[in-house]
Amino acid sequence: MWKPPERIKHTPPPGEWPTAQEADGALWFQPIQLGSTRLAQRTWVPAMVPWRATQEGLVTPEVLAWYGRFAAGKPGAIVVEATGIREVPSGPLLRIGHDRFIAGLRELVETVRRASDGETRFFIQLIDFLNIRRRPRPEKFFGRYLQLTDEYRQAVRERQSSGLGEELCDTDVRLSLLAMSAEEHEEILSSRDLEALRYGFRERVTDLDKEHIRRLPDQLPDLFASAASRAREAGFDGVELHYAHAYTMASFLSALNSRQDGYGGPRENRIRLPLEVLARVRAKVGEDFTVGCRYLSEDCIAGGSTVEDAAYFGVELAGAGMDFLSLSRGGKFEDAKQPRVGWTTYPYTGPSGYECMPVVRSDAQGPFGRNVEPTARIRQAVRAAGMETPIVVSGGICSFAQAEEILRTGKADIVGAARQSLADPDWFLKVRLGQGEAVRRCVFTNYCEGLDQMHKKVTCQLWDRLELDERGIQRSADGRRRLIAPSWTPSDPAGGTSQED
Ligand SMILES: Cc1cc2nc3c(=O)[nH]c(=O)nc-3n(C[C@H](O)[C@H](O)[C@H](O)COP(=O)(O)O)c2cc1C
Ligand code: SF4
Repeated sequence: MWKPPERIKHTPPPGEWPTAQEADGALWFQPIQLGSTRLAQRTWVPAMVPWRATQEGLVTPEVLAWYGRFAAGKPGAIVVEATGIREVPSGPLLRIGHDRFIAGLRELVETVRRASDGETRFFIQLIDFLNIRRRPRPEKFFGRYLQLTDEYRQAVRERQSSGLGEELCDTDVRLSLLAMSAEEHEEILSSRDLEALRYGFRERVTDLDKEHIRRLPDQLPDLFASAASRAREAGFDGVELHYAHAYTMASFLSALNSRQDGYGGPRENRIRLPLEVLARVRAKVGEDFTVGCRYLSEDCIAGGSTVEDAAYFGVELAGAGMDFLSLSRGGKFEDAKQPRVGWTTYPYTGPSGYECMPVVRSDAQGPFGRNVEPTARIRQAVRAAGMETPIVVSGGICSFAQAEEILRTGKADIVGAARQSLADPDWFLKVRLGQGEAVRRCVFTNYCEGLDQMHKKVTCQLWDRLELDERGIQRSADGRRRLIAPSWTPSDPAGGTSQED
């Protein structure tokens, strides 16, 4: 992963933990209304893909255990990982693009209700993504994938020193291109073909020459609406429309979206499809089902959307009836690192990826709470427009003091923590019970993200080798990592000790 060149090592902000009585009165543990759903507290576990579904996208016992484990810590809300809304295979990522997925998702909802004693509200993140291919071997790219054009044939002919170039057949053209240097490829290939060679082919929302891309605005509202309706049938409290990071809806919002069909260009056009999706979802699920979205406070890439754009989007989305707005940042393909041959580009490996999931080696600003000020600006714009839509912030938040300060100063209404909750799924409960000293604190070095990048089952380095002999625990295929955190029993307030067993 990319890291700021300064490489200043930061340490997580101090864990000044409250007593149980102080926690009782803390803002973080006060209720809040999100549309028709009431959260018992303002603690939130944002979406995290754990790579535990079947290859067909169905819920597995490992998925149940993963979310059940987070629910045992009784946060105000958990958002299920990005779940695909289409009928396309996507490896072991959850899917919701057909009614056959409902039964498994219902079991998941029941698991979370049971594990949290009904305290945790449960949302599911709905995602659409475009086609992306692995970085090809050059032989394969030039031999099979590259569409030969007359320009390429001509360029090869001109470079033939034998003078016999005119007689080259397409196979010879392909072989000649393959034999050329990286500099020659840069001179000859179009920027998209060069990208396909070096990174793997990736579709964009601006590829209007392709019918299925042109038709996205016709198709996506119904796809999202049907998925939301299935989520409702499965018993979820609501949905989070995924308008963030590197995926389709975020690409519509991005300032890089130059579509010429009324859905790109000025921001009034870029927000059009996200609003149309919301309208169709709302029409399908009704007013008594929570519908929110996650989007970016800033794209964090050259030419991308700014916080001013995001403030404008916030006002539009809130005005159109979103029940919450959850802000993330960055995480784009445009500045991602070149993948190894056979791998796909991972959108969290460049500077924008760093903004999304920053690590302890950072710049002077540091990794903790980088998203707070931009989020506060968006919230301010929404409030100035007269709307009370709850705003969720996350990104490098890992202490009670940070969360309280954010809420006290009105920078957000709900404070989420992804990696800290993975490091210790019980941490909200520990803090609430006045047992903050027992929190296992995230060290923000992104071992978990590295597993995600390799499409491996996500775990945390702080607990995945602990107590491997515990009976009945789920492990990774090689048996070397446990898949969920060890359980925790609160200490007896009368003087017992906390125990991790
Ligand atoms: C393993 C892993 C998987 C993630 N998967 C998702 C996802 O499915 N959807 C999403 O919006 N964000 C995803 N994220 C980003 C987190 O929700 C969060 O925005 C990010 O980790 C920064 O917050 P944090 O500092 O509290 O971890 C993922 C993060 C991690 C570490
Ligand atoms: S693996 Fe590292 S960054 Fe990820 S949750 Fe655990 S401690 Fe935090």
